[in-house]
Amino acid sequence: MSPKLEKFVDPLQIMKTLNPKEIGRGGTYYEVRMQEFQQKLHRDLPPTRLWGYNSQYPGPTIEAKQGEVVKVKWKNNLPDKHFLPVDKTFHHLEHMPEVRTVTHLHGSETRPDSDGYPDAWFTNNFKEVGEAFTRKVYEYPNNQRGATLWYHDHAMGITRLNVYAGLAGMYIIRDEQEKSLKLPSGSFEIPLLIQDRTFNDDGSLFYPSQPDNPTEGLPNPSIRPFFLGDTILVNGKVWPFLEVEPRKYRFRILNGSNTRGYQMELDSGQSFYQIGSDGGLLPKTVMMDSILIEPAERMDVIVDFSQYEGKTITLKNNLGPDADPADQTDDILQFRVNQPLSSQDNSHIPNRLSYVPSLKHNNIAAIRNLKLVSTTDQYSRTLLLLDNKMWMDPVTEKPRLDTTEIWSLMNLTNVTHPIHIHLIQFQILDRRPFDLDRYNEDRTIIFTGPAQPPKPNEYGWKDTVAVPPGEITRLIMRFSPYSGSYVWHCHVLEHEDYDMMRPYMIIDPHKED
Ligand code: C2O
Ligand code: CU
Repeated sequence: MSPKLEKFVDPLQIMKTLNPKEIGRGGTYYEVRMQEFQQKLHRDLPPTRLWGYNSQYPGPTIEAKQGEVVKVKWKNNLPDKHFLPVDKTFHHLEHMPEVRTVTHLHGSETRPDSDGYPDAWFTNNFKEVGEAFTRKVYEYPNNQRGATLWYHDHAMGITRLNVYAGLAGMYIIRDEQEKSLKLPSGSFEIPLLIQDRTFNDDGSLFYPSQPDNPTEGLPNPSIRPFFLGDTILVNGKVWPFLEVEPRKYRFRILNGSNTRGYQMELDSGQSFYQIGSDGGLLPKTVMMDSILIEPAERMDVIVDFSQYEGKTITLKNNLGPDADPADQTDDILQFRVNQPLSSQDNSHIPNRLSYVPSLKHNNIAAIRNLKLVSTTDQYSRTLLLLDNKMWMDPVTEKPRLDTTEIWSLMNLTNVTHPIHIHLIQFQILDRRPFDLDRYNEDRTIIFTGPAQPPKPNEYGWKDTVAVPPGEITRLIMRFSPYSGSYVWHCHVLEHEDYDMMRPYMIIDPHKED
Protein backbone atom coordinates (compact mmCIF):
# COMPACT_ATOMS: atom_id res chain seq x y z
CA MET A 1 0.00 0.00 0.00
CA SER A 2 1.20 3.50 -0.80
CA PRO A 3 2.05 5.96 1.97
CA LYS A 4 -0.86 8.31 2.68
CA LEU A 5 -0.58 11.15 0.18
CA GLU A 6 -2.51 14.37 0.50
CA LYS A 7 -4.67 15.01 -2.53
CA PHE A 8 -4.61 18.11 -4.73
CA VAL A 9 -1.36 19.66 -3.51
CA ASP A 10 0.59 19.61 -6.80
CA PRO A 11 -0.39 21.59 -9.88
CA LEU A 12 -1.16 19.61 -13.03
CA GLN A 13 1.83 19.51 -15.36
CA ILE A 14 1.46 19.63 -19.10
CA MET A 15 3.83 17.52 -21.18
CA LYS A 16 6.31 19.45 -23.30
CA THR A 17 5.90 19.29 -27.05
CA LEU A 18 8.82 17.52 -28.68
CA ASN A 19 11.08 19.60 -30.92
CA PRO A 20 12.19 18.04 -34.20
CA LYS A 21 15.88 17.45 -34.93
CA GLU A 22 15.37 18.24 -38.56
CA ILE A 23 12.58 19.36 -40.86
CA GLY A 24 13.23 18.24 -44.40
CA ARG A 25 11.53 17.21 -47.57
CA GLY A 26 11.28 13.62 -46.40
CA GLY A 27 9.35 14.65 -43.30
CA THR A 28 9.85 15.88 -39.78
CA TYR A 29 12.58 13.96 -37.99
CA TYR A 30 12.71 13.36 -34.25
CA GLU A 31 14.95 11.42 -31.93
CA VAL A 32 13.66 10.03 -28.69
CA ARG A 33 15.84 8.33 -26.11
CA MET A 34 14.51 5.96 -23.46
CA GLN A 35 16.38 6.47 -20.23
CA GLU A 36 16.30 5.88 -16.52
CA PHE A 37 15.86 9.02 -14.42
CA GLN A 38 14.22 10.34 -11.27
CA GLN A 39 11.18 12.59 -11.05
CA LYS A 40 9.08 13.97 -8.21
CA LEU A 41 5.52 12.72 -8.52
CA HIS A 42 4.05 14.26 -5.36
CA ARG A 43 5.04 17.03 -2.93
CA ASP A 44 5.62 14.55 -0.08
CA LEU A 45 7.26 11.73 -2.03
CA PRO A 46 11.00 11.46 -2.61
CA PRO A 47 11.86 11.40 -6.33
CA THR A 48 10.81 8.18 -8.07
CA ARG A 49 13.02 6.09 -10.30
CA LEU A 50 11.35 5.90 -13.72
CA TRP A 51 11.99 4.89 -17.31
CA GLY A 52 10.84 7.50 -19.76
CA TYR A 53 11.14 8.91 -23.25
CA ASN A 54 13.70 11.76 -23.16
CA SER A 55 13.82 11.36 -19.37
CA GLN A 56 10.27 12.64 -19.03
CA TYR A 57 7.22 10.99 -17.52
CA PRO A 58 4.90 11.02 -19.32
CA GLY A 59 6.98 11.33 -22.48
CA PRO A 60 6.98 14.54 -24.54
CA THR A 61 3.92 15.12 -26.71
CA ILE A 62 4.43 14.74 -30.45
CA GLU A 63 2.29 17.06 -32.58
CA ALA A 64 1.70 16.41 -36.27
CA LYS A 65 -0.44 17.94 -38.97
CA GLN A 66 -2.52 15.66 -41.14
CA GLY A 67 -0.35 14.52 -44.05
CA GLU A 68 2.92 15.52 -42.39
CA VAL A 69 5.33 12.59 -42.47
CA VAL A 70 6.87 12.10 -39.03
CA LYS A 71 10.00 10.01 -38.57
CA VAL A 72 11.16 8.98 -35.14
CA LYS A 73 14.35 7.26 -34.15
CA TRP A 74 13.40 5.47 -30.95
CA LYS A 75 16.60 4.87 -29.01
CA ASN A 76 16.99 2.63 -26.02
CA ASN A 77 19.53 3.79 -23.43
CA LEU A 78 18.05 1.81 -20.57
CA PRO A 79 19.98 -0.36 -18.09
CA ASP A 80 20.36 -4.09 -18.78
CA LYS A 81 18.39 -5.08 -15.68
CA HIS A 82 14.74 -4.25 -15.09
CA PHE A 83 13.80 -2.61 -11.79
CA LEU A 84 10.40 -4.30 -11.82
CA PRO A 85 9.83 -8.07 -11.42
CA VAL A 86 10.23 -9.83 -14.79
CA ASP A 87 8.60 -13.24 -15.05
CA LYS A 88 10.58 -15.33 -17.55
CA THR A 89 8.46 -18.47 -17.46
CA PHE A 90 6.62 -17.80 -20.72
CA HIS A 91 7.35 -16.75 -24.33
CA HIS A 92 10.91 -18.11 -23.99
CA LEU A 93 11.78 -14.94 -22.12
CA GLU A 94 14.57 -16.76 -20.30
CA HIS A 95 16.45 -16.79 -23.61
CA MET A 96 15.96 -13.10 -24.28
CA PRO A 97 17.67 -10.02 -22.89
CA GLU A 98 15.76 -8.88 -19.82
CA VAL A 99 15.30 -5.27 -20.97
CA ARG A 100 13.85 -4.89 -24.45
CA THR A 101 11.77 -2.12 -25.97
CA VAL A 102 9.74 -1.42 -29.08
CA THR A 103 7.45 1.57 -29.48
CA HIS A 104 3.93 1.37 -30.85
CA LEU A 105 1.97 4.44 -31.89
CA HIS A 106 -1.48 3.45 -30.72
CA GLY A 107 -4.25 4.31 -33.18
CA SER A 108 -1.99 5.16 -36.06
CA GLU A 109 -2.32 4.04 -39.64
CA THR A 110 1.25 2.90 -40.23
CA ARG A 111 3.07 0.30 -42.31
CA PRO A 112 3.94 -2.94 -40.49
CA ASP A 113 7.66 -2.14 -40.29
CA SER A 114 6.93 1.00 -38.24
CA ASP A 115 4.09 -0.38 -36.17
CA GLY A 116 6.12 -1.71 -33.27
CA TYR A 117 5.50 -5.44 -33.60
CA PRO A 118 6.10 -7.05 -30.17
CA ASP A 119 8.92 -9.26 -31.54
CA ALA A 120 10.57 -6.28 -33.25
CA TRP A 121 12.22 -5.27 -29.98
CA PHE A 122 15.73 -3.96 -29.48
CA THR A 123 18.05 -3.47 -26.52
CA ASN A 124 20.30 -0.61 -25.44
CA ASN A 125 22.03 0.87 -28.47
CA PHE A 126 20.49 -1.85 -30.71
CA LYS A 127 23.07 -4.33 -29.36
CA GLU A 128 20.53 -7.10 -29.68
CA VAL A 129 17.31 -7.13 -31.69
CA GLY A 130 14.28 -9.42 -31.82
CA GLU A 131 13.55 -11.81 -34.68
CA ALA A 132 11.02 -9.44 -36.21
CA PHE A 133 13.18 -6.31 -35.93
CA THR A 134 12.62 -4.01 -38.90
CA ARG A 135 14.27 -0.60 -38.76
CA LYS A 136 15.76 2.01 -36.45
CA VAL A 137 13.75 4.97 -37.72
CA TYR A 138 9.99 4.58 -37.69
CA GLU A 139 7.81 6.45 -40.14
CA TYR A 140 4.29 7.74 -39.46
CA PRO A 141 2.45 9.03 -42.55
CA ASN A 142 -0.34 10.75 -40.54
CA ASN A 143 -2.70 10.31 -43.47
CA GLN A 144 -5.62 9.99 -41.11
CA ARG A 145 -8.04 12.36 -39.41
CA GLY A 146 -7.06 14.60 -36.58
CA ALA A 147 -7.02 12.45 -33.43
CA THR A 148 -5.51 11.90 -30.01
CA LEU A 149 -3.10 8.99 -30.27
CA TRP A 150 -0.48 7.79 -27.84
CA TYR A 151 2.81 6.00 -28.01
CA HIS A 152 3.92 3.39 -25.55
CA ASP A 153 6.17 0.41 -25.22
CA HIS A 154 4.99 -2.90 -26.70
CA ALA A 155 7.86 -5.36 -26.08
CA MET A 156 6.88 -9.00 -25.98
CA GLY A 157 6.00 -10.25 -22.50
CA ILE A 158 7.09 -7.14 -20.56
CA THR A 159 4.81 -4.40 -21.89
CA ARG A 160 3.04 -4.14 -18.51
CA LEU A 161 6.35 -3.44 -16.75
CA ASN A 162 7.78 -1.07 -19.33
CA VAL A 163 4.63 1.04 -19.44
CA TYR A 164 4.36 0.95 -15.64
CA ALA A 165 7.97 2.17 -15.44
CA GLY A 166 6.87 5.25 -17.41
CA LEU A 167 7.19 4.49 -21.14
CA ALA A 168 4.11 6.28 -22.51
CA GLY A 169 3.35 9.64 -24.13
CA MET A 170 0.74 11.48 -26.20
CA TYR A 171 0.70 12.08 -29.94
CA ILE A 172 -1.74 14.52 -31.48
CA ILE A 173 -2.70 14.78 -35.15
CA ARG A 174 -4.41 18.02 -36.17
CA ASP A 175 -6.44 18.66 -39.30
CA GLU A 176 -8.02 21.67 -41.00
CA GLN A 177 -11.60 20.49 -40.68
CA GLU A 178 -11.24 20.36 -36.93
CA LYS A 179 -9.56 23.75 -36.85
CA SER A 180 -12.54 25.32 -38.60
CA LEU A 181 -14.82 24.34 -35.70
CA LYS A 182 -13.28 26.86 -33.27
CA LEU A 183 -13.09 24.46 -30.36
CA PRO A 184 -11.27 25.64 -27.21
CA SER A 185 -7.58 25.72 -28.15
CA GLY A 186 -4.15 26.90 -27.09
CA SER A 187 -3.85 26.95 -23.31
CA PHE A 188 -7.53 25.94 -23.10
CA GLU A 189 -6.87 22.59 -24.74
CA ILE A 190 -5.21 20.22 -22.28
CA PRO A 191 -4.19 16.56 -22.55
CA LEU A 192 -4.90 14.42 -19.48
CA LEU A 193 -3.04 11.13 -19.26
CA ILE A 194 -4.48 9.11 -16.36
CA GLN A 195 -2.56 6.22 -14.76
CA ASP A 196 -2.71 4.37 -11.45
CA ARG A 197 0.41 3.47 -9.49
CA THR A 198 1.34 2.13 -6.05
CA PHE A 199 4.35 3.53 -4.17
CA ASN A 200 6.71 2.24 -1.54
CA ASP A 201 7.48 4.59 1.37
CA ASP A 202 10.77 5.62 -0.25
CA GLY A 203 8.90 6.89 -3.30
CA SER A 204 9.80 3.96 -5.55
CA LEU A 205 7.19 2.28 -7.72
CA PHE A 206 5.66 -0.88 -6.31
CA TYR A 207 4.60 -3.65 -8.64
CA PRO A 208 3.75 -7.01 -7.03
CA SER A 209 6.00 -9.91 -7.94
CA GLN A 210 3.19 -12.48 -7.75
CA PRO A 211 -0.60 -12.80 -7.91
CA ASP A 212 -2.53 -11.90 -4.75
CA ASN A 213 -3.09 -15.47 -3.61
CA PRO A 214 -0.01 -17.31 -4.85
CA THR A 215 -0.35 -21.07 -5.04
CA GLU A 216 2.46 -23.38 -4.02
CA GLY A 217 5.17 -23.96 -6.61
CA LEU A 218 4.43 -20.67 -8.35
CA PRO A 219 7.49 -19.06 -9.90
CA ASN A 220 8.70 -15.80 -8.38
CA PRO A 221 8.47 -13.39 -10.07
CA SER A 222 5.19 -14.51 -11.60
CA ILE A 223 2.84 -12.55 -13.84
CA ARG A 224 -0.52 -11.63 -12.31
CA PRO A 225 -3.91 -11.48 -14.01
CA PHE A 226 -4.41 -7.76 -13.24
CA PHE A 227 -2.86 -4.81 -11.45
CA LEU A 228 -4.72 -1.97 -9.75
CA GLY A 229 -2.65 0.87 -8.27
CA ASP A 230 -4.02 2.62 -5.17
CA THR A 231 -2.97 6.14 -6.28
CA ILE A 232 -4.12 8.09 -9.33
CA LEU A 233 -1.72 10.21 -11.38
CA VAL A 234 -2.58 12.67 -14.10
CA ASN A 235 0.23 13.75 -16.43
CA GLY A 236 2.72 12.27 -14.00
CA LYS A 237 1.52 13.96 -10.79
CA VAL A 238 -0.42 12.31 -7.97
CA TRP A 239 -3.97 13.73 -7.70
CA PRO A 240 -3.06 17.17 -9.07
CA PHE A 241 -5.14 20.34 -9.24
CA LEU A 242 -5.63 22.71 -12.17
CA GLU A 243 -6.50 26.40 -11.83
CA VAL A 244 -8.90 27.39 -14.58
CA GLU A 245 -10.76 30.42 -15.90
CA PRO A 246 -14.56 30.53 -16.02
CA ARG A 247 -14.70 29.41 -19.67
CA LYS A 248 -14.73 26.32 -21.87
CA TYR A 249 -11.80 23.91 -21.88
CA ARG A 250 -11.09 20.98 -24.10
CA PHE A 251 -9.57 17.93 -22.39
CA ARG A 252 -8.09 15.08 -24.40
CA ILE A 253 -8.37 12.28 -21.87
CA LEU A 254 -6.34 9.09 -22.21
CA ASN A 255 -6.48 6.13 -19.86
CA GLY A 256 -2.89 4.87 -19.82
CA SER A 257 -3.41 2.51 -16.87
CA ASN A 258 -2.42 -1.15 -16.97
CA THR A 259 -5.79 -2.61 -15.89
CA ARG A 260 -7.95 0.08 -14.31
CA GLY A 261 -11.03 1.49 -16.03
CA TYR A 262 -12.55 4.77 -14.78
CA GLN A 263 -16.16 5.89 -14.55
CA MET A 264 -15.54 9.62 -14.89
CA GLU A 265 -17.95 12.19 -13.44
CA LEU A 266 -17.82 15.83 -12.35
CA ASP A 267 -18.93 16.40 -8.75
CA SER A 268 -20.60 19.69 -9.76
CA GLY A 269 -23.21 17.51 -11.46
CA GLN A 270 -22.47 19.10 -14.82
CA SER A 271 -22.16 17.04 -18.00
CA PHE A 272 -19.20 16.59 -20.28
CA TYR A 273 -19.69 17.64 -23.88
CA GLN A 274 -17.98 14.78 -25.62
CA ILE A 275 -16.68 15.70 -29.06
CA GLY A 276 -14.29 12.88 -29.90
CA SER A 277 -12.96 9.46 -29.11
CA ASP A 278 -10.12 7.20 -30.29
CA GLY A 279 -10.17 8.00 -34.00
CA GLY A 280 -11.01 11.70 -33.82
CA LEU A 281 -14.19 13.76 -33.79
CA LEU A 282 -17.62 12.19 -33.33
CA PRO A 283 -20.36 12.95 -35.85
CA LYS A 284 -22.17 15.03 -33.20
CA THR A 285 -21.42 16.43 -29.77
CA VAL A 286 -23.01 14.28 -27.07
CA MET A 287 -23.78 15.24 -23.49
CA MET A 288 -22.40 12.63 -21.10
CA ASP A 289 -23.01 12.71 -17.32
CA SER A 290 -20.65 9.83 -16.81
CA ILE A 291 -17.96 8.45 -19.10
CA LEU A 292 -16.48 4.99 -18.85
CA ILE A 293 -12.90 4.94 -20.08
CA GLU A 294 -11.12 1.60 -20.35
CA PRO A 295 -7.35 1.22 -20.72
CA ALA A 296 -6.04 2.81 -23.98
CA GLU A 297 -9.33 4.54 -24.83
CA ARG A 298 -9.38 8.28 -25.49
CA MET A 299 -12.26 10.63 -24.69
CA ASP A 300 -12.14 14.15 -26.10
CA VAL A 301 -14.42 16.37 -24.02
CA ILE A 302 -15.30 20.01 -23.46
CA VAL A 303 -16.05 21.15 -19.91
CA ASP A 304 -17.71 24.52 -19.50
CA PHE A 305 -16.62 26.28 -16.31
CA SER A 306 -18.29 29.60 -17.20
CA GLN A 307 -21.05 29.23 -14.58
CA TYR A 308 -18.71 28.03 -11.83
CA GLU A 309 -16.60 31.05 -10.94
CA GLY A 310 -15.05 30.64 -7.47
CA LYS A 311 -16.00 26.97 -7.29
CA THR A 312 -13.91 23.86 -6.90
CA ILE A 313 -14.90 20.91 -9.08
CA THR A 314 -13.45 17.42 -8.85
CA LEU A 315 -13.15 14.96 -11.68
CA LYS A 316 -14.25 11.79 -9.90
CA ASN A 317 -14.00 8.11 -10.59
CA ASN A 318 -17.34 6.62 -9.53
CA LEU A 319 -16.45 3.36 -7.78
CA GLY A 320 -20.07 2.31 -7.34
CA PRO A 321 -22.09 1.52 -4.22
CA ASP A 322 -19.96 -1.43 -3.08
CA ALA A 323 -16.69 0.50 -2.95
CA ASP A 324 -14.35 0.05 -0.01
CA PRO A 325 -14.44 3.35 1.97
CA ALA A 326 -10.65 3.18 2.28
CA ASP A 327 -10.27 3.15 -1.52
CA GLN A 328 -8.76 6.51 -2.51
CA THR A 329 -9.12 6.04 -6.25
CA ASP A 330 -12.50 7.78 -6.38
CA ASP A 331 -10.69 11.07 -7.09
CA ILE A 332 -8.76 11.92 -10.24
CA LEU A 333 -8.18 15.67 -10.59
CA GLN A 334 -9.40 18.90 -9.03
CA PHE A 335 -10.33 22.03 -10.97
CA ARG A 336 -10.24 25.41 -9.20
CA VAL A 337 -12.20 28.02 -11.09
CA ASN A 338 -10.20 30.88 -9.56
CA GLN A 339 -8.46 32.54 -12.48
CA PRO A 340 -9.70 35.79 -14.03
CA LEU A 341 -10.94 35.59 -17.59
CA SER A 342 -7.86 36.46 -19.66
CA SER A 343 -9.85 37.07 -22.84
CA GLN A 344 -13.36 36.60 -24.08
CA ASP A 345 -14.25 32.97 -24.66
CA ASN A 346 -15.01 32.79 -28.38
CA SER A 347 -14.82 29.02 -28.60
CA HIS A 348 -17.76 26.91 -29.73
CA ILE A 349 -19.36 23.62 -28.91
CA PRO A 350 -20.79 22.81 -32.33
CA ASN A 351 -23.62 20.34 -32.59
CA ARG A 352 -22.38 18.76 -35.81
CA LEU A 353 -18.71 17.91 -35.77
CA SER A 354 -17.66 15.65 -38.59
CA TYR A 355 -18.78 13.16 -41.18
CA VAL A 356 -18.33 9.52 -40.23
CA PRO A 357 -19.35 7.30 -43.15
CA SER A 358 -21.03 4.10 -41.99
CA LEU A 359 -19.36 0.85 -43.00
CA LYS A 360 -22.65 -1.06 -42.67
CA HIS A 361 -23.43 -0.97 -46.37
CA ASN A 362 -20.08 -2.35 -47.51
CA ASN A 363 -19.86 -5.90 -48.80
CA ILE A 364 -18.84 -8.11 -45.92
CA ALA A 365 -15.95 -10.35 -46.94
CA ALA A 366 -15.90 -12.36 -43.70
CA ILE A 367 -17.59 -12.65 -40.34
CA ARG A 368 -15.24 -13.94 -37.65
CA ASN A 369 -16.59 -15.37 -34.42
CA LEU A 370 -13.86 -14.96 -31.83
CA LYS A 371 -14.07 -15.98 -28.19
CA LEU A 372 -12.42 -14.34 -25.22
CA VAL A 373 -11.66 -17.18 -22.83
CA SER A 374 -10.04 -17.88 -19.50
CA THR A 375 -8.16 -21.05 -18.66
CA THR A 376 -5.18 -22.00 -16.47
CA ASP A 377 -1.55 -22.84 -17.16
CA GLN A 378 0.77 -25.49 -15.70
CA TYR A 379 1.15 -23.45 -12.49
CA SER A 380 -2.67 -23.10 -12.17
CA ARG A 381 -2.33 -19.43 -13.01
CA THR A 382 -5.01 -17.60 -14.94
CA LEU A 383 -4.32 -17.74 -18.66
CA LEU A 384 -6.50 -15.50 -20.80
CA LEU A 385 -6.70 -16.23 -24.51
CA LEU A 386 -8.21 -14.97 -27.73
CA ASP A 387 -10.15 -17.77 -29.41
CA ASN A 388 -8.27 -20.36 -27.35
CA LYS A 389 -4.98 -19.61 -29.08
CA MET A 390 -1.63 -18.54 -27.72
CA TRP A 391 0.47 -15.73 -29.18
CA MET A 392 2.85 -18.30 -30.67
CA ASP A 393 0.15 -20.27 -32.53
CA PRO A 394 -0.04 -19.83 -36.31
CA VAL A 395 -1.86 -16.78 -37.68
CA THR A 396 -5.58 -17.44 -38.11
CA GLU A 397 -7.01 -13.98 -38.88
CA LYS A 398 -6.00 -13.14 -42.45
CA PRO A 399 -8.26 -10.45 -43.88
CA ARG A 400 -7.72 -9.37 -47.48
CA LEU A 401 -6.53 -5.86 -48.18
CA ASP A 402 -9.35 -3.35 -48.84
CA THR A 403 -12.13 -5.67 -47.67
CA THR A 404 -14.64 -5.18 -44.87
CA GLU A 405 -15.19 -7.72 -42.11
CA ILE A 406 -17.34 -8.13 -39.01
CA TRP A 407 -15.63 -9.41 -35.89
CA SER A 408 -18.01 -10.83 -33.34
CA LEU A 409 -16.29 -10.96 -29.97
CA MET A 410 -17.89 -13.30 -27.46
CA ASN A 411 -16.62 -12.70 -23.93
CA LEU A 412 -16.73 -15.96 -21.95
CA THR A 413 -14.73 -14.60 -19.00
CA ASN A 414 -16.16 -12.63 -16.08
CA VAL A 415 -14.41 -9.31 -16.70
CA THR A 416 -14.50 -6.61 -19.38
CA HIS A 417 -11.63 -6.69 -21.87
CA PRO A 418 -10.72 -3.56 -23.85
CA ILE A 419 -9.90 -5.04 -27.25
CA HIS A 420 -7.56 -3.12 -29.53
CA ILE A 421 -6.83 -3.80 -33.21
CA HIS A 422 -3.74 -2.28 -34.81
CA LEU A 423 -3.70 -0.30 -38.09
CA ILE A 424 -7.41 0.32 -38.51
CA GLN A 425 -10.19 2.27 -36.85
CA PHE A 426 -13.42 0.30 -36.56
CA GLN A 427 -17.07 1.00 -35.80
CA ILE A 428 -19.09 -0.70 -33.09
CA LEU A 429 -22.23 -2.40 -34.44
CA ASP A 430 -23.84 -3.64 -31.23
CA ARG A 431 -23.56 -5.65 -28.01
CA ARG A 432 -25.88 -8.49 -27.14
CA PRO A 433 -26.08 -10.26 -23.76
CA PHE A 434 -26.28 -14.06 -23.55
CA ASP A 435 -26.55 -16.60 -20.73
CA LEU A 436 -22.91 -17.17 -19.83
CA ASP A 437 -23.56 -20.00 -17.32
CA ARG A 438 -25.68 -21.85 -19.83
CA TYR A 439 -23.01 -21.45 -22.49
CA ASN A 440 -20.33 -22.78 -20.17
CA GLU A 441 -22.52 -25.79 -19.37
CA ASP A 442 -23.42 -26.98 -22.86
CA ARG A 443 -22.18 -24.42 -25.42
CA THR A 444 -25.65 -23.18 -26.35
CA ILE A 445 -26.06 -19.48 -26.92
CA ILE A 446 -29.28 -18.23 -25.34
CA PHE A 447 -29.61 -14.48 -25.77
CA THR A 448 -31.00 -12.78 -22.68
CA GLY A 449 -31.88 -9.50 -24.35
CA PRO A 450 -31.89 -7.64 -27.64
CA ALA A 451 -28.74 -6.32 -29.30
CA GLN A 452 -27.89 -2.92 -27.83
CA PRO A 453 -26.68 -0.12 -30.07
CA PRO A 454 -23.34 1.52 -29.21
CA LYS A 455 -23.37 4.15 -26.45
CA PRO A 456 -23.91 7.75 -27.65
CA ASN A 457 -20.16 8.44 -27.38
CA GLU A 458 -19.28 5.33 -29.41
CA TYR A 459 -20.60 6.48 -32.79
CA GLY A 460 -17.22 7.61 -34.08
CA TRP A 461 -14.09 5.74 -35.10
CA LYS A 462 -12.68 3.47 -32.42
CA ASP A 463 -9.52 1.42 -32.09
CA THR A 464 -10.19 0.08 -28.60
CA VAL A 465 -13.55 -1.19 -27.40
CA ALA A 466 -14.95 -2.40 -24.10
CA VAL A 467 -16.06 -6.01 -24.55
CA PRO A 468 -18.15 -6.79 -21.44
CA PRO A 469 -18.51 -10.30 -19.97
CA GLY A 470 -21.45 -12.39 -21.13
CA GLU A 471 -22.00 -10.28 -24.21
CA ILE A 472 -21.23 -10.52 -27.90
CA THR A 473 -19.70 -7.27 -29.12
CA ARG A 474 -19.71 -6.84 -32.90
CA LEU A 475 -17.28 -4.60 -34.75
CA ILE A 476 -17.11 -3.69 -38.41
CA MET A 477 -13.89 -2.61 -40.10
CA ARG A 478 -12.15 -2.23 -43.40
CA PHE A 479 -8.58 -3.50 -43.66
CA SER A 480 -6.67 -0.79 -45.44
CA PRO A 481 -4.37 0.84 -46.60
CA TYR A 482 -1.44 -1.52 -45.92
CA SER A 483 -0.90 -5.26 -45.99
CA GLY A 484 1.34 -7.26 -43.71
CA SER A 485 1.64 -8.38 -40.08
CA TYR A 486 -0.13 -6.60 -37.28
CA VAL A 487 -1.55 -7.58 -33.91
CA TRP A 488 -4.81 -7.42 -32.01
CA HIS A 489 -5.06 -7.82 -28.28
CA CYS A 490 -6.64 -6.98 -24.99
CA HIS A 491 -5.25 -3.68 -23.67
CA VAL A 492 -5.22 -4.76 -20.05
CA LEU A 493 -1.44 -4.98 -20.12
CA GLU A 494 -1.32 -7.97 -17.79
CA HIS A 495 -3.62 -9.77 -20.25
CA GLU A 496 -1.77 -8.64 -23.35
CA ASP A 497 1.52 -9.98 -21.97
CA TYR A 498 0.03 -13.39 -21.10
CA ASP A 499 -1.50 -14.25 -23.49
CA MET A 500 -4.36 -12.26 -24.84
CA MET A 501 -2.63 -11.09 -27.98
CA ARG A 502 -2.66 -12.53 -31.47
CA PRO A 503 -0.91 -11.75 -34.72
CA TYR A 504 -3.10 -11.02 -37.72
CA MET A 505 -2.09 -10.59 -41.31
CA ILE A 506 -3.59 -8.47 -44.05
CA ILE A 507 -3.16 -10.27 -47.35
CA ASP A 508 -2.68 -8.37 -50.57
CA PRO A 509 -3.72 -10.80 -53.33
CA HIS A 510 -1.71 -8.78 -55.86
CA LYS A 511 1.49 -9.22 -53.93
CA GLU A 512 3.24 -12.51 -53.49
CA ASP A 513 4.80 -12.98 -50.10
CU1 C2O B 1 -1.79 0.54 -27.25
CU2 C2O B 1 -1.04 -2.88 -29.29
O1 C2O B 1 -1.38 -1.18 -28.21
CU1 CU C 1 -8.26 -8.49 -21.02
